[in-house]
Amino acid sequence: MTAMSNPEIAAVIRHSIAHAANGTMDLADEVLKVPASNYTDPARFKREVDGIFKRLPLMLAPTAEMPNPGDFKTLEVAGIPVLLTRGQDGVVRSFINSCTHRGTNVATDDTGNARRFTCPYHGWTFGQNGDLLAVASPGDFGAIDKSCYGLTALPVAERAGLIFGSVDPDSPIDIDTFLSGYDSLLDLFNFKDWYLFSSRRLRGPNWKIAYDGYLDFYHLPVLHKDTLAKMMELGNRALFHAWGPHQRVVAPDRTARMLGDTPESEWRDDQVLTGVWTIFPCISIASFNGGGRGVMISQLLPGDVVGESWTRQIYLMEKAPTDEETIKGAHAQFDMLETVVRDEDYATGLRQQRALDAGMMDHVLFGRNEGGAQAFHGWVDRIIAADDQQLGRMFGLPRAEAAE
Ligand SMILES: [Fe+2]
Repeated sequence: MTAMSNPEIAAVIRHSIAHAANGTMDLADEVLKVPASNYTDPARFKREVDGIFKRLPLMLAPTAEMPNPGDFKTLEVAGIPVLLTRGQDGVVRSFINSCTHRGTNVATDDTGNARRFTCPYHGWTFGQNGDLLAVASPGDFGAIDKSCYGLTALPVAERAGLIFGSVDPDSPIDIDTFLSGYDSLLDLFNFKDWYLFSSRRLRGPNWKIAYDGYLDFYHLPVLHKDTLAKMMELGNRALFHAWGPHQRVVAPDRTARMLGDTPESEWRDDQVLTGVWTIFPCISIASFNGGGRGVMISQLLPGDVVGESWTRQIYLMEKAPTDEETIKGAHAQFDMLETVVRDEDYATGLRQQRALDAGMMDHVLFGRNEGGAQAFHGWVDRIIAADDQQLGRMFGLPRAEAAE
């Protein structure tokens, strides 16, 4: 089955081509003002971390980062240590990465492969399913009910070759409802069979300053005039397509140019799945072709303070490159993307952060052509204003209720 046989994909691409042919675009109703303090106020930042990052399902890892039984990954989400494991049964599980004896991390490597996790402090041992398998020197330690001291499990689901999870053990949100059908489109990439080429970490400004940039094609020919825009002809128009809070961003002019007069029946998947796929609140997936078909997944997480975020750039390739030339090409592509994001997007964003921190601006603006960021800020506002019950109603029933 090709991507174009999916009616939603076909509709998006036809919509882009029609706009390009007419020289038109979709516009938001009005220019939006967002308070500058949304990017600088520590109290607002805390509401976002608590209301968004500690409650919503987040894309935590692509399957390609831990494809095999025994593979694991550790990461920190809003200060909460998370351990993702893939059991010998192939099932992904998620836990608080905190030994139930005294709390330190049971796994300390970023990624690895292990049948069991032995806490580096006193040597308590946990299984891939979180069970406490053994207490060190149990006779000396004293009796405890081991079944009550497994690692704390977190909600997790693997969809479309991506691993989604929440750091709230009692999350009121159903992951599939939250995904709003968007995962069935992402599934067309077939990421579950893709290859992890490389990854790295970059420091950036406030997570929303950084994220605004991924939803923004308006800046492409200006900020990236010497890099991206030089390599490929980039217009500044974008069309935004939403599934719940998740948005696919498509460049109408590029799409039309790429597909040209080719009959629809010959449109390839890599041509109709281009653009930027964002997953609320912190993921962007962008397609590139240097050294073979690849995507850069950018995973943004807030830092410890309002003016800081961390981005993991994860480069996945459709196929593991085998010849020297393809490998060189893929390295060159990924290195170029690091330079663009670090020296252009985030350097600009960090200057924006400093300017807003000075407190001399009341608000920033998002134009009618920037509907993607307008929608994003609307979701952020609504979600942090919602209590757990309202959030559960927005994104499905509590998992326990849904299971009943
Ligand atoms: Fe950019």
